[in-house]
Amino acid sequence: MVDLKGKDILHGAQFTREEIEHIMKVAEEFRGRLEKERSLDLMKGYVMGTLFFEPSTRTRLSFETAMHRLGGEVVGFASAAGTSVAKGESLADTIRTVDQYVDLIVIRHPQIGSAKIAADAAESPVINGGDGAGQHPTQALLDLFTIRSEKGRVDGLTIVLCGDLKYGRTVHAGVELYKHYNCRLIFVSPEALRMPSEITDRLREQGVEVVETTDLEAALAEADVLYMTRIQKERFDDPAEYERLKGSYILTREMVERIRPDVTILHPLPRVDEIATDVDSLPNAAYFRQVRNGVYVRMALIALVMGVV
Ligand code: NCD
Repeated sequence: MVDLKGKDILHGAQFTREEIEHIMKVAEEFRGRLEKERSLDLMKGYVMGTLFFEPSTRTRLSFETAMHRLGGEVVGFASAAGTSVAKGESLADTIRTVDQYVDLIVIRHPQIGSAKIAADAAESPVINGGDGAGQHPTQALLDLFTIRSEKGRVDGLTIVLCGDLKYGRTVHAGVELYKHYNCRLIFVSPEALRMPSEITDRLREQGVEVVETTDLEAALAEADVLYMTRIQKERFDDPAEYERLKGSYILTREMVERIRPDVTILHPLPRVDEIATDVDSLPNAAYFRQVRNGVYVRMALIALVMGVV
């Protein structure tokens, strides 16, 4: 029996396969219902707080859309500039305050571990919308949902993760889900942006097949799914290092057509230059469908932690 009522959503590693499957099933149900109705009234009277201390387009707007489509209300902010944080208020005090107003908190913050600090300070469930270079579990769940819906399965697929694997929180969370599905993982990055060894070592200890390479074309030849990521400019201490590494990998339409025409292409977005825009019209370029899926998966997460489904 899966019961996520009252739970925080902080880390990809917190889920069992059964929980992941349940979230997928509920998200699919919401997708079906939204094909018939514009919105539902499941969450009438509930208020969700979205506290975004870092820039966001998709994560914040899809959480807010999800809550509105569930019939609930939203309060929040999209930058700390207009809040008492600018006066020196601590994160814990801000969270304790918002906790007096809302039933559920979604937070994005530049510091690794901030979502856990928020969860410890709040009585309401807290959902991590990205904690620095740490984790982004709701993105990972919507990525998995997209793979399932594009490929019809996740089990046994070869998934190539390419780009900034050091600072990319979506891939840090994603691998914690893929490991439940006997996937083969190929990590493609510049040497300086490799997946942290704590993560790779732990995956290997858990029996996951992990290959690391700098060669995107060789990896693409074996990929069922190619997950491109942006070099995370805002995480670099040294701007010269970012300048050196930006543009490391650029997926072109020619590469896809020549090497692996039927690969499913994902990207959490925003894209800078990692995927040439002429890839977008390929039928297997799934990144804008992935965006839409974010609403269904976040509806599922909101409804599950609030215990209304
Ligand atoms: C990602 C993020 O914020 O970590 N974006 C997102 O949530 N869709 C990826 C990124 O910023 O590169």
